[in-house]
Amino acid sequence: MERWQNKVVVVTGASAGIGAVIAADLVKNGFIVVALARREERLQENHRALPENLQSRYYPRTCDVTNEDQVKDTFAWIETKFGGTDVLVNNAGMGVVGVELSAANNTEPIRNILETNIMGVVYCVREAFNSMKNRNFDGHVVIINSITGHYVPIVPFGPLNMYPPSKFAVTAMVETYRQEFANAGTKVKVTVSYLLSSS
Ligand SMILES: NC(=O)c1ccc[n+]([C@@H]2O[C@H](COP(=O)([O-])OP(=O)(O)OC[C@H]3O[C@@H](n4cnc5c(N)ncnc54)[C@H](OP(=O)(O)O)[C@@H]3O)[C@@H](O)[C@H]2O)c1
Repeated sequence: MERWQNKVVVVTGASAGIGAVIAADLVKNGFIVVALARREERLQENHRALPENLQSRYYPRTCDVTNEDQVKDTFAWIETKFGGTDVLVNNAGMGVVGVELSAANNTEPIRNILETNIMGVVYCVREAFNSMKNRNFDGHVVIINSITGHYVPIVPFGPLNMYPPSKFAVTAMVETYRQEFANAGTKVKVTVSYLLSSS
């Protein structure tokens, strides 16, 4: 961990669930954390829940990862404030359970899943990687994926519709990033975590 002390890590989806835990752990392990999500109040609560001596290392910031302009503004702010992004933990993701992929009038939830789970990753990884590359920094991109990025489970609580396809796309994107980061002559690493369930 020594080489990561005081490095800047961006955690998406840091207001709740897995992202909130990752962000707090990274602060406790010496990182400066920029915690992103849409719900400002939840981010502020997580900030206040940190030990007092670590709170100055946690920067909550509202950012909807489906909004390309917000993502660009956020990473530009990081560039100005800290000099760049050293690590990205791309955790923000969502699903809508119980709507069939073939159901009538399901465009909105399907599109939300694609925008969050795929385009959100595209926008954030692009900004983070270019920050690392431009500074010649051997950073790290971590992507929280799902076991449904490998197979489509039959689940008792209803159809998962576009969630597994979005996570299959992320599986392919990880390999694409690996090739691109190497082809660009960088040593930026990409790591993927295939979660089964947090419960
Ligand atoms: N929990 C599991 O069992 C499990 C299993 C496999 C994979 N995963 C994956 O692990 C990741 C985290 O899951 P989780 O269970 O911790 O989810 P969660 O508890 O529902 O939390 C999701 C987080 O993502 C944020 N988020 C959602 N849409 C966003 C957007 N458009 N812009 C910015 N932030 C957004 C939410 O914050 P706001 O609402 O405040 O924006 C929240 O902080 C996801 O990628 C998920 O697919 C989870």
